[in-house]
Amino acid sequence: MSDTASLTYGETTFPLNVLTGTEDEKALDVRQLRKESGLITYDDGYGNTGSCESSVTFIDGDKGILRYRGYDIAELAEKSNFLEVCLLLLNGELPSSQELAAFESKVSSFQNLPSEVLDSIQAMPSSVHPMGSLAAGLQALGGACPHLCTNDRNQDIANFDDAAALIIAALPALAAANYRKKAGESLRKPDASFNYCENFLSMMFEKDGDASINPALSKALDLIFLLHADHEQNCSTSTCRMIASGGANPFASLAGAVSALWGPLHGGANMAVINMLNDIHGSGDDGSKFIQSAKEGKSRLMGFGHRVYRNYDPRAKILKSACDKALAALGVSSPILDIARRLEEVALQDPYFIDRKLYPNVDFYSGIILQALGFPTNTFTVLFAIGRAPGWLAHWKEIAQTGKKIHRPRQIYQGSNLRSYISVENR
Ligand code: CMC
Repeated sequence: MSDTASLTYGETTFPLNVLTGTEDEKALDVRQLRKESGLITYDDGYGNTGSCESSVTFIDGDKGILRYRGYDIAELAEKSNFLEVCLLLLNGELPSSQELAAFESKVSSFQNLPSEVLDSIQAMPSSVHPMGSLAAGLQALGGACPHLCTNDRNQDIANFDDAAALIIAALPALAAANYRKKAGESLRKPDASFNYCENFLSMMFEKDGDASINPALSKALDLIFLLHADHEQNCSTSTCRMIASGGANPFASLAGAVSALWGPLHGGANMAVINMLNDIHGSGDDGSKFIQSAKEGKSRLMGFGHRVYRNYDPRAKILKSACDKALAALGVSSPILDIARRLEEVALQDPYFIDRKLYPNVDFYSGIILQALGFPTNTFTVLFAIGRAPGWLAHWKEIAQTGKKIHRPRQIYQGSNLRSYISVENR
């Protein structure tokens, strides 16, 4: 088959190269089109735009496939763990046992944040949202480590390994500092004898004298982080890459990504799912009325649908069974889990959802586990951010090492034509 295509506009035909990815996806290369024809391509919301070539993550949304660096998500979920996956994403290969041990110990030693960074979290208004605090905390962290945060691309690349380990270490500590401040509790120092997730649970929830962490719970948290670790060119990752393309350091790029993740159509959906399930439960509905209102466009079935997946999100499948295990380990039952199961069952048989290929996404079950672990709803998106950090960092590195151009989309201007200024008294 030809690896070129052509576009005819008026009397002229413009040849277009076809790029082929390693999984055989095809793209029309339109980079020269504007220069040659004066035309730009228009794709509101970027639903059909390839913004880069990337080797981090592969998704086939029609088949429900997700792979990090070529490894299937289900296999990683079963056999790997979050910190190992961090190195896989950051470096492209699974680490040796020595590399993994060195990374674990670096992350552990970096969890003790500079006091001025923790003070900056304390100084924020009590009403600040945990996501706002996290974004600001990242900027403060960069400020406290100027040698890792120079905006000199060569220097930031040379120091990238330390910056990445510091950011991965810091996010749980920043999240815990915000949570404890809101709860009026003093900060809990990280404990080097705990692993990454145990330490996070301990910094968040441990009271004096209470030092035990249920391993089943830290394992459930580790799985949630692993499943969120990357998802190619989503809204927050594209934001991270956009900021990085201007030459900004990893701390600034990730602070922007955190802000992009915050919204309810992206990372905020896990909070919205719990609020929706609680509302359904509180109103005495078994889910049927809610499904009807979603079909009528009066509400959205949060945790359902995805821009890329037109099939079951493979992460949702894994989380559905993890949900059962986590609740069993805690010895609790969840009425909202029953509602979630029913909503899924009904939606997957309903022509509205079938025709639009709307399936549960990663957020549909993750919130139920996080709620059972004791995380307040407004921290759910922060947990998504902690999990997504290695993905954002891997994309920052990819841009820093291979990106040659600042990202700068075009537009179709639809505003007023040239007009003359009228002084204020004459308006
Ligand atoms: N409930 C009811 N209808 C829906 C839903 C939903 N959750 N999602 C999409 N639709 C309908 C939508 O109304 C439209 O119908 P019609 O063709 O009749 O106008 C059709 O399906 C296509 O929807 P769309 O909004 O054009 O699809 P999109 O690809 O632009 O949006 C989405 C994807 C994820 C924003 C959307 O499905 C949604 O809002 N879902 C709920 C929020 C959610 O769970 N977000 C988390 C996404 S996964 C985590 C992440 O990556 O951040």
